[in-house]
Amino acid sequence: MKILFIGDIVGKGGREAVQALVPGLRREYACDFCIANAENIAGGNGLTRNCLQELLEGRVDVFTTGDHVWDQKEFAGEIKSLPNVLRPANYPVEQPGCGWGVFSAPSGEKVAVLSLIGRTFMAAGADCPFAAAERIVPELRKETPLIIVDFHGEATSEKIAMGRFLDGKVSAVLGTHTHVPTADQQIFPGGTAFQCDVGMVGARESILGRALEPVLSRFRTGMPTRFTVVDRGIRLHGAVITVEANGRAVGIERVMRDLP
Ligand SMILES: [Fe+2]
Ligand SMILES: [Fe+2]
Repeated sequence: MKILFIGDIVGKGGREAVQALVPGLRREYACDFCIANAENIAGGNGLTRNCLQELLEGRVDVFTTGDHVWDQKEFAGEIKSLPNVLRPANYPVEQPGCGWGVFSAPSGEKVAVLSLIGRTFMAAGADCPFAAAERIVPELRKETPLIIVDFHGEATSEKIAMGRFLDGKVSAVLGTHTHVPTADQQIFPGGTAFQCDVGMVGARESILGRALEPVLSRFRTGMPTRFTVVDRGIRLHGAVITVEANGRAVGIERVMRDLP
């Protein structure tokens, strides 16, 4: 089966691009299932139920998140009623929501999705992502060999380490968070597809989806500035993973598409 995985969707422009482009991409690549990282859908910071609803119309099946998951205050209450929205599994158990799930594709095949967050240069309060993967992946494999991991991390080294750690145990380890797609897509020897970062759905004329000037000002002056999201000129980044029934990945292709 083929799975479309989409990087961090940023703001209104990102949501519009997903709605406009994903149905066509699913047809073009004959994808049975779509996973997207939604940590930045609400004005660049966090998620809301209403924003997620728009993306369901764009035919996304499961949403992963990351360090921005709790940016919108009300979302801690909303996530409990949203079984297809995952928060990082290695966040403390006291947090609402869940970090993994097993879902059914229209073909009837089961797809497990696991959301993890790295701890290098970020999320210092999270539990060890490797220990979490070691605990959760065998449980998921009891239900399906087809497992997709979103590893939300800053450091390429930590992401590659997770990919190698899970090689042969999951179908794909795909990085998110940096908003910049990497050109290192490959299938590891054990049959796990890997890409350090799949990128974002955000503006080309931006710094990670945000307007240039406030970000430049913060870097140059060190003074706090309000980052605004650019909602025009949107480019979608993702990856299409081809997985056999035994869970082994046999293909990974980068996808880049501009919203006309
Ligand atoms: Fe992000
Ligand atoms: Fe992030």
